[in-house]
Amino acid sequence: MTVPDRTQVGIIGGGPAGLLLSHLLARDGIDSVVLESRDRAYVEARQRAGVIEVGTAELLRDVGLGTRMDRDGLVHGGIYVQFAGERHHLDFVDLTDGGTVTVWAQTEIVKDLVAARLADGGGLKFEAEAVAVEDLTTDRPVVRYRDAAGTEHELRCDVIAGCDGFHGVCRPAIPSLAVVDHAYPYAWLGILADVAPSTDELIYAHHTRGFALHSLRSPEVSRLYLQVAPDENLDDWPDDRIWSELATRLGVAGWTLHTGPIRDRGITPMRSFVGAPMRHGRLFLAGDAAHIVPPTGAKGLNLAMADAAVLADALRALLVDRDGRLAESYSDRCLRRVWRATHFSWWMTSMLHRPMQADAFDEALQLSQLRYVTSSRAAATSLAENYVGFTMRTA
Ligand code: FAD
Ligand code: PHB
Repeated sequence: MTVPDRTQVGIIGGGPAGLLLSHLLARDGIDSVVLESRDRAYVEARQRAGVIEVGTAELLRDVGLGTRMDRDGLVHGGIYVQFAGERHHLDFVDLTDGGTVTVWAQTEIVKDLVAARLADGGGLKFEAEAVAVEDLTTDRPVVRYRDAAGTEHELRCDVIAGCDGFHGVCRPAIPSLAVVDHAYPYAWLGILADVAPSTDELIYAHHTRGFALHSLRSPEVSRLYLQVAPDENLDDWPDDRIWSELATRLGVAGWTLHTGPIRDRGITPMRSFVGAPMRHGRLFLAGDAAHIVPPTGAKGLNLAMADAAVLADALRALLVDRDGRLAESYSDRCLRRVWRATHFSWWMTSMLHRPMQADAFDEALQLSQLRYVTSSRAAATSLAENYVGFTMRTA
């Protein structure tokens, strides 16, 4: 049996993009239903991003979701870039006239968004899996979804927002979609550990054995990553091996990496992917559903939230003011920011990772680039303004 239902905006995916969009629409009096295939506990615990741009932090504050972030988030005024056994500090505040980033985990943003939607009585359905989107070129598109009991539902909408991540059902429903896809020959092994960070700001380390990153979540919890092969087996990485490899790649004279119990671990492949246009009729894509960047530039979450903000404006104009101009320009406006982040993320990745068959030429070029970035104010400023969020502040 199919159970019919109706809302103004049917949002597929309860990640940061879908939840934020629903929250923004509610502030404009627009009704939405978020369909999320996983359960609440899973969505709130999924370890992902940890660093947000200054504009993303401002956005969260503007929409009433900044209280916990301002209390518990860690504002960082720079990063360390390390190579050839030297650790250099890039001072973003100085280089970008006050720019900062905030260490504030995606899990916390998602928890706040879920709590806000539920407190507002917003439509948020967990364990509801979209199986098809239909009638996209009419003004009454339909989402078909299945609940946990296996019952099929039909959600009739004015608009569908495809916020269903990289493996969702929405992107394949755009017939004119053109895809740019680039796979990298490495992956990241990430851990979350119950140990105080051994650094005050993030360390991005180039090493002959491969890239390593020391990030953090709080004064008590560290987040660290190692470059590994895409087909690496997690079982081959017992705790001792992980810590010893991190200590080697992150090591500089006079500095010690503190170790502790590993609470969560996983391997993430890396790719750059852009699908365009991000709209077909009454279906709009946002976030990872449309584009993926490798995590080295810390951009994916920021792009997802920026898309949601641009889409909320376009949908308000379309559904409340009956003005379709922002909906028309939605894809182009988002893609400008996406391509800047795509280039920056590729550049950071290429500069810091060890190619699979590295030759002396590759390595010398990387080291020259790293030395340039850490000694030229112009080069350092370029890295800094992209990292703190160039497009967010100017688009
Ligand atoms: P997602 O978070 O993927 O959410 C999509 C949701 O849709 C999911 O909850 C999924 O369950 C649901 N869904 C899928 N299919 C269906 C369906 N058919 N029906 C219903 N629901 C469905 N970004 C940064 O900005 N900074 C960082 O520091 C950073 N670090 C990262 C580190 C790692 C290891 C990884 C993996 C990513 C990192 N990112 C980072 C990227 C960031 O996490 C993503 O870009 C972000 O999660 C995108 O949000 P989203 O809402 O678009 O998609
Ligand atoms: C993280 O804290 O998870 C993180 C930080 C910076 C990155 C990627 C991931 O570039």
